[in-house]
Amino acid sequence: MPESPPKQKVLITGATGYIGRRLTQRLLESAHVDIRLFVRNQNKLQASIRERVDIREGSTFDITSLKMALHGVDTAFYLIHSMGTTADYRNLDRDSAENFREACIACGVKRIIYLGGLGVKESASEHLLSRIETGEVLSAKADQIQTIWLRAGVIIGSGSASFEIIRNLCQKLPVMITPRWVRSRTQPIGINDVLSYLEKSIELSVDGDLIVDIGCEELSFQEMMQQAAAMMGLKRYLFPVPVLSPRLSSYWLILFTPIPFKLASALVEGLKSETVLQNNNAKKMYPDIKPALFKETVSDAMAELEQNQVLSRWCDSSAEIACDIKDFDNPEGAILRDVRIVPFGPDRTQDDIYRSVCSLGGPNGWFKYNVLWRIRGILDKVTGGYGLNRGRRSSDELRIGDALDFWKVVDLIPGKRVLLYAQMKVPGQAWLEFDIQPNQLVQTAHFLPRGLLGRLYWYSVLPLHYLVFTDLARTVVKGNGNG
Ligand SMILES: NC(=O)c1ccc[n+]([C@@H]2O[C@H](COP(=O)([O-])OP(=O)(O)OC[C@H]3O[C@@H](n4cnc5c(N)ncnc54)[C@H](OP(=O)(O)O)[C@@H]3O)[C@@H](O)[C@H]2O)c1
Repeated sequence: MPESPPKQKVLITGATGYIGRRLTQRLLESAHVDIRLFVRNQNKLQASIRERVDIREGSTFDITSLKMALHGVDTAFYLIHSMGTTADYRNLDRDSAENFREACIACGVKRIIYLGGLGVKESASEHLLSRIETGEVLSAKADQIQTIWLRAGVIIGSGSASFEIIRNLCQKLPVMITPRWVRSRTQPIGINDVLSYLEKSIELSVDGDLIVDIGCEELSFQEMMQQAAAMMGLKRYLFPVPVLSPRLSSYWLILFTPIPFKLASALVEGLKSETVLQNNNAKKMYPDIKPALFKETVSDAMAELEQNQVLSRWCDSSAEIACDIKDFDNPEGAILRDVRIVPFGPDRTQDDIYRSVCSLGGPNGWFKYNVLWRIRGILDKVTGGYGLNRGRRSSDELRIGDALDFWKVVDLIPGKRVLLYAQMKVPGQAWLEFDIQPNQLVQTAHFLPRGLLGRLYWYSVLPLHYLVFTDLARTVVKGNGNG
């Protein structure tokens, strides 16, 4: 038998992000390549991925870790951005891309594949400009390394920010007064097609750099809303008016969707100008990929939601402090604590209690005093936080890095420990820990206050904590039908 050629070694960066998680799954299924992941914290990956894939930890700001990850790699995906980390994210993104390109050249990588945004510089939003600059930096040394730069606009998939906005607005508002830019033309694309373009780019036979604009039919945001509503069996009326500023529109979005202000305003800015394909390289170079129509992409996304099969969400990595989960899994530095200890008998195992904790939040609620949780969520939302409506990715599974209402899951030890870090607006840092011991649950709310305000906050909410946390621990132990 003739020997099959050696598999290409492919590095996926951003493998804990929205696109990276799905690309990892796709390439694992296709098996034509040997993949390695570059992540900031491997605990954010499911155990099933950790067991099967070569993983390197590091950051694009740590050159040594980059070079170790790129050693022996043929093709490297660049699926990273720092939006939201600091006001200076454009500079961070430029430095990150430059470090990556230089490390690729030093390690003899043959091709970089980058996914950026659709649109032109002249009318680009701040976020899109950063994506364009990243592409320019990555492809600045075409004589030393080849870059395939895919450019996508609105991506429709379960858990994508754009789809969550469309879905929530359609489901919650029968009539919408909208800004005029809802009529700007754009070309959305389904996540499965994005993955097909990324996958095909590994083997694509092409000399030199290539920019490929990808998208399905041309639509306005208004048409997308109306088509999506029809797919959900709803009739929606949109009335564009000239008086709604982008800022006001962003406030509107944070009220009715789970998206926080920063992301909402970046998306609104992006939608203000036309984002349509500038070249037909997708058809020319990838003739086998026929992008699904917008309606089909909505139906795929809805099906994934209904089947509880959401692989990644926009908030897996929202570039906030706790998204790089490392160093958040140890609340020892906290100085204020609320501890509840509830014993349990032989009729309940540690696994039962763990399952019970893992079912908290999202549509399942917080067992008791849900009204108080909801009020806290609303207060958080109006002060610019996430509120409760990020919900949870899956109704029966938690993964480190998952958003859980206004918490982020920062540690999970099956049968033993669940640790949540608060992403709600609080004057300090807060954690909620469930330590499941052989015959008792120790539930601790840890708080590291910021100055006097932090302390005042903690003592003013003590009566509420008394009610909520006492009952939470007791109900978790009882199970209440959840584990
Ligand atoms: N999602 C969309 O709707 C969409 C639409 C059009 C284009 N795109 C493009 O697709 C690309 C990927 O986007 P995405 O939505 O998947 O992003 P994402 O969900 O925000 O994920 C970003 C990823 O980058 C990682 N990361 C950030 N800084 C890093 C650093 N310094 N070193 C190593 N890893 C770092 C994050 O790791 P942690 O998990 O540790 O934070 C995370 O895995 C971007 O270029 C974006 O512009 C996305």
